[in-house]
Amino acid sequence: MKALITAGGRGTRLRPLTHTQNKHLIPVANKPILQYALEAVREAGITSVGIVVGVDNGQEVVDWFGDGSSQELQITYIWQEAPLGLAHVVKISQEFIGNDPFVFYLGDNIVVGGINRFVREFTDRTVDCYLTLARVRDPERFGVPEFGRDGSIVSVVEKPRVPKSPFAVSGIYIYGSAIFEAVNSIEPSQRGELEISDAHDWLLKHGYKVGHGEITGWWKDTGLPGDLLEANRLVLSNVQVQIDGNVAASSDIAGAVIIEEGAEVIASRIRGPAIIGRGAKIVDSYIGPYSAIGVDALLQKCEVEYSILMDRVVVNEVDVRIEGSLLGADVEIVRSQGKPRVQRFVLGEQSRVEVI
Ligand code: G1P
Repeated sequence: MKALITAGGRGTRLRPLTHTQNKHLIPVANKPILQYALEAVREAGITSVGIVVGVDNGQEVVDWFGDGSSQELQITYIWQEAPLGLAHVVKISQEFIGNDPFVFYLGDNIVVGGINRFVREFTDRTVDCYLTLARVRDPERFGVPEFGRDGSIVSVVEKPRVPKSPFAVSGIYIYGSAIFEAVNSIEPSQRGELEISDAHDWLLKHGYKVGHGEITGWWKDTGLPGDLLEANRLVLSNVQVQIDGNVAASSDIAGAVIIEEGAEVIASRIRGPAIIGRGAKIVDSYIGPYSAIGVDALLQKCEVEYSILMDRVVVNEVDVRIEGSLLGADVEIVRSQGKPRVQRFVLGEQSRVEVI
């Protein structure tokens, strides 16, 4: 079995973070979003992985993951010239996949608990296509299945105005070769894309077997940057304590806290679940639940909770608690020195600050 993982798209909904970064490389609990997909397929015993990247921001992904050897994977990059839909992604990957069954994994999806169960069910049930479903509040934003009397899927519609079930088809699919027949038979939708839901519906209408399983602990970037905090919460909710860094006796640590190698915690209080990245330094501070602090960050005399602070962020002597915040790499929030005492901002395009 192989895996095909998407890592293209401009990530406009996650601006400003995506002005300078492919959204798949944005860290959640200190790992790029895409890393979760790679780990899930590796845990399922798959080593041959194709990553589909766009010409505009694909090189970043290549630079980050290279040939995959650091992940114990063999990665092949497949370049998509234009965003013509997910079924188009499958279409251009046919040569890489050959006759193997494969997991198609949208790289902006995170699923806690892995995909082994689904891979097993795909094989055991000898289906042509296996869809993972998640119960959601807003199915109209997704591909939505309709069920027949026996509980099997009878149709799939992309972003229906009136959903036929409360389920979304998540971005983790498992296919046999029949999917290529489907993606080569369907026509572009009104938005000009080859829709993956149309390919699934094509399989159903042509007598192929489509199985499904329900998935819990699923996240995808449906909306605002703040949604990343939800992904961070989801992942951190499942971590175990691991202290590899230095915690001075003057500190107080409780809950599922990961302190990576070379990190230092001095005279601070940390309440998990939280992660402190390699080489980060936390001094005289409070780090509350669902916080991810990046590599080499420096936090001094401050309070942070339910936030993602990326690599090398500096927060120094800030006396209001930072909460529900996303700080990109190298961002600095520091106390103003000298007179007059003012709030001074240097913000990139589409940044957002809330002051009290
Ligand atoms: C895509 C698919 C949709 C699926 C979703 C899951 O939507 O078209 O069927 O439910 O991924 O992540 P998009 O992200 O393109 O809106």
